[in-house]
Amino acid sequence: MGHSETVGSSDRVIEAIVSRSSTKKFSDEAVSRGDIETMLTAAVRAPDHGMLAPWRFIVLQGDSRAILGSAMRAALQSRMPEADAEALDREASKAWRSPLLVVVVAEPKSHPKVPEVEQLVAVGAAIQNLWLAAHSMGYGAAWKTGSHAYDAGVKSALGLRAEDHVVGFLHVGRPTSKAPIRPAEFAARTTWL
Ligand SMILES: Cc1cc2nc3c(=O)[nH]c(=O)nc-3n(C[C@H](O)[C@H](O)[C@H](O)COP(=O)(O)O)c2cc1C
Repeated sequence: MGHSETVGSSDRVIEAIVSRSSTKKFSDEAVSRGDIETMLTAAVRAPDHGMLAPWRFIVLQGDSRAILGSAMRAALQSRMPEADAEALDREASKAWRSPLLVVVVAEPKSHPKVPEVEQLVAVGAAIQNLWLAAHSMGYGAAWKTGSHAYDAGVKSALGLRAEDHVVGFLHVGRPTSKAPIRPAEFAARTTWL
């Protein structure tokens, strides 16, 4: 690859990184299987110490979003037995915010040289890769966690074990409203030695 091609491709990567922001509202348009597979390919190209593939992806689209919606409703009900029908409906509707939801899970493996924290950050890198791939294809995304990510009932509804970590519920779809791009402040957090 020649010099100009190298510079050209890194410019596109930087452009994608600095122009990313969270999507607030999504259109209903479904995401194609091919595009989802491109996003997942980008995700698993993340750095992975020991090549343990500590990630797992659960893809929810269309009616399968009801699995998460019902689980979130039940989780709220058990956490707040006084929650009314409106509050429960609002909680369940969060699963329908976007046409595609990718639940990104860390399943850390026992390894003598790769502690759990390294496997968790690898999964974080996978989420960022997935998001940037989606962004570069004209999709938007929103990364959510909240109490449902840590709820044993929600994990069980998704076929996960209590010890698995839901690192993010990644909503993906065509954006109709996005957050402003926030300033990239690094100076106060950087020491030059
Ligand atoms: C581990 C993790 C968990 C997050 N959980 C939530 C969440 O529960 N709700 C939410 O609105 N945003 C969540 N976010 C997204 C951030 O709030 C968001 O990226 C931040 O506000 C910056 O906005 P930007 O993405 O537009 O730059 C999470 C981000 C990370 C890295």
